[in-house]
Amino acid sequence: MKTARKADSSFFIFNSSLNYMTLFDVYPLFDINIARGRGCHVWDDHGTEYLDLYGGHAVISIGHSHPHYVEAINRQVAELGFYSNSVVNTLQRQLAERLGKACGYEDYSLFLINSGAEANENALKLASFHNGRTRVLSFGKAFHGRTSLAVEATDNPRIIAPINANHHVTYLPLNGLDAARTELEKGDVCAVIIEGIQGVGGIRIPEAGFLQELRTLCDATGTVLILDEIQSGYGRSGRFFAHQHAGIRPDLITVAKGIANGFPMGGVLISPKFKPVYGQLGTTFGGNHLGCAAALAVLDVMEDEHLVENAARVGTHLLDELRALPGIKEVRGQGLMIGIEFSAPVQELRRRLIFEQHVFTGASGTNVIRLLPPLCLSMDEADEFIRRFKQCL
Ligand SMILES: Cc1ncc(COP(=O)(O)O)c(C=O)c1O
Repeated sequence: MKTARKADSSFFIFNSSLNYMTLFDVYPLFDINIARGRGCHVWDDHGTEYLDLYGGHAVISIGHSHPHYVEAINRQVAELGFYSNSVVNTLQRQLAERLGKACGYEDYSLFLINSGAEANENALKLASFHNGRTRVLSFGKAFHGRTSLAVEATDNPRIIAPINANHHVTYLPLNGLDAARTELEKGDVCAVIIEGIQGVGGIRIPEAGFLQELRTLCDATGTVLILDEIQSGYGRSGRFFAHQHAGIRPDLITVAKGIANGFPMGGVLISPKFKPVYGQLGTTFGGNHLGCAAALAVLDVMEDEHLVENAARVGTHLLDELRALPGIKEVRGQGLMIGIEFSAPVQELRRRLIFEQHVFTGASGTNVIRLLPPLCLSMDEADEFIRRFKQCL
């Protein structure tokens, strides 16, 4: 029986009447314990198999427990799991070189940290160090993470604590060119931060012309253009980065999620116009040996298995199939980043997909089902998803 623990026990979080430490309850959970994964499938601790169209929230890029990835991590931890950023780390250098080649930004440099929010936090700091300004432009429905500057640039007052509300950020309508021009022409904006494709906001794609015009306006006004590719990047949109569909080159690009297939890692790709200053940025864990080995293995598999091309091919097929289904308000997306919008809340549909059809999906807001599968999703697996999805419509 659970009893109240004695108040003198300073070692444990005191959770009302429980006599053991519990989790701080911030997530509404599906009561499923995922124990094992392979490719685009996961299994719970009762052995039930699920088709994973969620990729653990866009994190699983090359598939669950890919043998090459498992081998690379095992090998690295047996050699050296961690050493500090006070010495040369050749794995970091290899990763920068390989990533530059893979995405076409070979002249950029790389700063490694541990998460997406940290990537945006550091990008915004770099922008402010660079031009000395403090105003940021972000967009309606944007999500950039939960650390101080990143959360302030996130258009969700519910998750912005009073201590984060420093009024640095002005939110503009996505694709609202007139509003962007008016703000940027004031000449006092530090940075514009925009997602390659809005994920949490419901899979909303910035128009190519809008991104191109933002680029021109940022150049004209000394403003730093930051592309948050944390969810939309690393091949998910069918190009390495979603903004590459619009043919622009941002000043800073932030990455995380798929970069190391589940090992916590984030990065900022930094254009040559920024000069590093010793001590301005730093981290204890960022770019550690184990994370770099994981990220290098991800690039190996992405190249060997042509996963960017696969995301484009299978994504187009999924979009076509979904658009032919009845009862859906709108299907939006690019590659394997797809939003299926309904006129009513999707919570019950998601629950039925999981418990009746054994398919994991994500959601954006109340009415949008979000698909973020591993980039290795096959045509057969896509068709299998459509078959099961139809059962629930
Ligand atoms: C576009 C975008 N930016 C930033 C983040 C924050 O990343 P993290 O949760 O790794 O801090 C997320 C996470 O969902 C995201 O989707």
